[in-house]
Amino acid sequence: MFRKILFLVVFLQCVARIFSQTNCPILPTPVTIQTQTETIFLQNEISVDSANLNENLFKQLQFLAKSYHSSSIVYSKSNPLIVFKKLINVKQDSYSINVNDRIIISYSSERSCYYAIHSLMQLIQNKNNELTITKCFVHDYPNFKWRGLHLDVARHFFTVEEVKRYIDLMAVYKYNTFHWHLTDDQGWRIEIKKYPKLTEIGAWRDSTVENHYSTNPRTYEHKRYGGFYTQEQIKEVVQYAAERYVTIVPEIEMPGHARAALAAYPELSCTGKQQGVEGLWGVFDDIFCSKEESIVFLQDVLAEVVTLFPGHYVHIGGDEAPKSRWKECSKCQKVIQDNHLKDEHELQSYFIRRMDQFLTEKGKKLIGWDEILEGGLSPNAAVMSWRGFEGGIEAAKQGHYVVMSPGSHCYFDHYQGKSKNEPLAIGGYTPLEKVYDFNPVPKEMNVDQASFILGGQANLWTEYIPNFKQLEYMVYPRAIALSQALWCVKKPSYETFLTTLVSSHFPILNRWNVNYAKSILKPSMKTIRTKDGVEIQLKSTELKNGKLSEKSDSFPISRTKKKVKTNRIPIAWYNGNGTIAYDTMSITNHLGLGANLNFITKPSPKYFDSDVILVDGQFGSRPWKGNEWIGFDKDSIVIEVDLGKKRKIKGIELSFLQDEGSWIHAPEMISIETISPKNGMNVGMAQSPPLDGYAPYPEKWEFDFKSKVEKIRFTIYGIGVIPMGLPGEGNVPWTFMDELIIK
Ligand code: ACM
Ligand code: ZN
Repeated sequence: MFRKILFLVVFLQCVARIFSQTNCPILPTPVTIQTQTETIFLQNEISVDSANLNENLFKQLQFLAKSYHSSSIVYSKSNPLIVFKKLINVKQDSYSINVNDRIIISYSSERSCYYAIHSLMQLIQNKNNELTITKCFVHDYPNFKWRGLHLDVARHFFTVEEVKRYIDLMAVYKYNTFHWHLTDDQGWRIEIKKYPKLTEIGAWRDSTVENHYSTNPRTYEHKRYGGFYTQEQIKEVVQYAAERYVTIVPEIEMPGHARAALAAYPELSCTGKQQGVEGLWGVFDDIFCSKEESIVFLQDVLAEVVTLFPGHYVHIGGDEAPKSRWKECSKCQKVIQDNHLKDEHELQSYFIRRMDQFLTEKGKKLIGWDEILEGGLSPNAAVMSWRGFEGGIEAAKQGHYVVMSPGSHCYFDHYQGKSKNEPLAIGGYTPLEKVYDFNPVPKEMNVDQASFILGGQANLWTEYIPNFKQLEYMVYPRAIALSQALWCVKKPSYETFLTTLVSSHFPILNRWNVNYAKSILKPSMKTIRTKDGVEIQLKSTELKNGKLSEKSDSFPISRTKKKVKTNRIPIAWYNGNGTIAYDTMSITNHLGLGANLNFITKPSPKYFDSDVILVDGQFGSRPWKGNEWIGFDKDSIVIEVDLGKKRKIKGIELSFLQDEGSWIHAPEMISIETISPKNGMNVGMAQSPPLDGYAPYPEKWEFDFKSKVEKIRFTIYGIGVIPMGLPGEGNVPWTFMDELIIK
């Protein structure tokens, strides 16, 4: 009987939880929340018995009440609204909030008290300057120990004030780890007293590549760019983070991504050649030589770093270190011989092991990118898995701690929306829902292996993020979705999350002037083929009475029978703060709009959303954003266009993409065959002008001729293999095709 009652209680609790999670304003969503219907009104001065709050927590409470609601906190011993209680022997970092006639906050640690304060602030609603809170009970604790956000300050520099704001926002979403990427090829950003040239020289570059780095030809902005943090400033940020219960993990990159350090101390490279701080993005051959002098230098640097950062972990990078210099360096080869190493991968492993020993002696723990698995993992090393989950799985199998940070879900430098108006990014596509789906523990892991997964982290590389406004755009709201994946024991559905995000958190971010992305609110667009053209279908998300609903619109366009013309389609969407945003899109209307296509050569399924894309009147964006184009991994391509009946045409236009960095090349020859039932087949051959050596072929091809045709067959000949000296040399290039216009 007792078991039955217990079962019933557990069942009711579950129902209450599921019911309540759907209208809980707190993000990340707490483990349990039970809401009553009654609401209480709060004064603008909130009275608190702070006897159980330390000085910092009281200061944070005051600061947060002001920033969330412009309310103030006053101390009251006799009749306080909020009472804090410290509990012992309860789950680590857990807290509960009991809102009744009084608000009682119980917590197990200072850290969890801080989390409780954020949750309480999010429970308080502010409608027309009237503060209310619904009676409820919240019990909460984190699922993962490592809930991290990373920031690259080397590619672009962010000031102390900006870094503090980054930490402030992280803390709102209960992140506890800030991974500060302080050194890279393009800048050394931390003062090291023993080696002043690191910041005198290494913190400044003379030029920065413009546009996407794969743009041809490459151009540079020739302007001195840089900055660094003094040790005093570092201490200030460490303290600021600690007051928000955020631990900083500093990263000093080695042996690769070292060009800024080598610009200051070229003698630490294999060749000794003097080169500047790099102004281009990428992976560079010159890395730290593995000789003893370099190792001692880096240990000296780490010795200063560990005194500045009280946290347990120190990140030593370890990613993307080409071995070409080590292969040709007599000093590196001698280290291989003297230490009986098999090859340069074991040499990298030896290099990392020396850092591991050093950090371990200092009472710290080494963490590095998953390349540190190559050549054997150092005994005490933890692994940050970025090239997928595999490195993390392997490290966990070997009994090493792991932070999962796979590019597929956790790289916030990727695009988050498909609109052409998304700011230039490195590439990739990691929308909000993909981030939300992230689980740091892959399904195939057993319980023992899973116990080594500390948690997860998003990385923010800043090659394409020149300022803090754009940084906020790339990180929010994706960091909120990730906080769900890292905090929630059982996260609610994506739709539930989206409703809370838009209705409760977009207003908070608005209040704080956060330049978060509204990409999820923009209509998604689909083009379908109709009998006489195309139809543009738009779907957008709308918030009405606290509920999200879908709104659809469709615009049929009949193909022109005459000259090419432009049709404009109005687009409107709910902009998240009660306003409507407007835009228009242009459709290039031509004789082939919506025509049937026969792909005699099949496109790659990876870059083939829909076959109407070549005749939908829309152009792919440049630089290439990974979608809106049809991609072929073949060298010769045959496509037939069927106009349905005989038509008088005046010419044809085709366009292609030239993006050498992505192994995408425009073709070198196109042949066109026009087919009409009466005249049979007509062949018109076209070839681009002969080029002296390799130079890119044109992206745009125009053919002017008059003909009466029903079908047109295109044979597109690519360049065969990628020429020497270019990325992907010797491989078959990709061919990316855009709108095919029939005039
Ligand atoms: C990395 O993204 N190179 C760790
Ligand atoms: Zn060397």
